[in-house]
Amino acid sequence: MIARQEMEQTVERITETGMRDDVRRDIEAELASESIKLRVTDLDFYYGRFRALKGINLAIPTNRVTALIGPSGCGKSTLIRVFNRMYDLVPGARVRGSARLDGDEVTGRGVDVVMLRRRVGMVFQRPNPFPMSIYDNVAYGPRLEGAPRDLDGVVERSLRSAALWDEVKDRLKDSALALSGGQQQRLVIARVLAVEPEVILMDEPASALDPISTLKIEDLMTDLKSRYTIAIVTHNMQQAGRVSDYTAFMNMSSERHGEVVEFGRTAEIFNRPRDPRTEAYITGRFG
Ligand SMILES: Nc1ncnc2c1ncn2[C@@H]1O[C@H](COP(=O)(O)OP(=O)(O)OP(=O)(O)O)[C@@H](O)[C@H]1O
Ligand SMILES: [Mg+2]
Repeated sequence: MIARQEMEQTVERITETGMRDDVRRDIEAELASESIKLRVTDLDFYYGRFRALKGINLAIPTNRVTALIGPSGCGKSTLIRVFNRMYDLVPGARVRGSARLDGDEVTGRGVDVVMLRRRVGMVFQRPNPFPMSIYDNVAYGPRLEGAPRDLDGVVERSLRSAALWDEVKDRLKDSALALSGGQQQRLVIARVLAVEPEVILMDEPASALDPISTLKIEDLMTDLKSRYTIAIVTHNMQQAGRVSDYTAFMNMSSERHGEVVEFGRTAEIFNRPRDPRTEAYITGRFG
C-alpha cells in the first residue's frame, strides 16, 4: 500500500513544473556562503514565438565550476549563451527578466557587448581556432585591444595556463589548424585566457575529444577555477561529477519550455537528488 502511495506521489511530482519550493530554500541557504558572479532572475527566453526558457532562477558562484546538465533541447546552450549575449546574432531571439554579472545587467540595450564578451569568454563544442598561426590565435584578443608591450609574455602565459605550452613552444608560427582536436581546444582556451576574462563559459568543450584530451580539459578547469568562474554544459555525468562544485539540472516542461529543476552542490545532486525528475535523469531513466 505504502509503496503504491509513494509511487503515485512521485508520479504526481514528476508532472510538476519548475523548482520545488523546499529545493529552492535549501539552495538559497547553501549559497549564502558564496559570492555570486552571475545571477539570473525570472528569466524567459524566446526564439520568435517559441519560449525556450521559462522562469529561470540561477546563481553561479565566483571561482567555482558550475555544471549545467539535462536532456537534449532543454535549453542549456540557450541559457549559457545569455551570459555573453551570443543570442544577439540570432534573428527573433529575445530575453525577458534579468541576468546580472557582478550586479550589472547583461541583457539591456545599453550594454557594451564587446566589453561584456571580454569579461565573459566562451569555448564551444567544436574547437574553432582561427586560420592563422598558433601565436596569432592567442595574440588576437590582446592585439585588438592595442597590443600590450609584452605580447610574447602574454602568449606564453596563456598557453601555459591552458596546459599547451610544452607541446607548441617550438612551433608557434605553425598553423593552428595543424594541431590535433584536443590541442586546438586548449588553444581556444588559451585565446580566451589571453584577454583575462572573469567568466569562462564552456558548451560541451570535450565532447569531440578523445579520453586523454578530455581529462586534460577537465584538469585544466580545476586549475583555472582559482582565478575564473566557470560554467560548463555537459552530457557526461562522470565529467560533471569530476569537475564541478555545483550542478544545475535542467528539464523541459510539458510545453517544452526549459526550466531549472534542481540546483545544488554536485555531490548532493548526484548522491541525494531532492526532486524525482533529477533522480530519473541522473540514473539514466530518461533524457
Ligand atoms: N536558433 C534557434 N532558433 C530557434 N529555436 C532554437 C534555436 N536554437 C535553439 N532552439 C530551440 O531551443 C530549444 C533549446 O535549445 P538548446 O540548443 O538551448 O538546447 P540544449 O539543452 O543545449 O540541447 P543539446 O543538449 O542538444 O545541445 C530547443 O527546442 C531548440 O530547438
Ligand atoms: Mg546545447
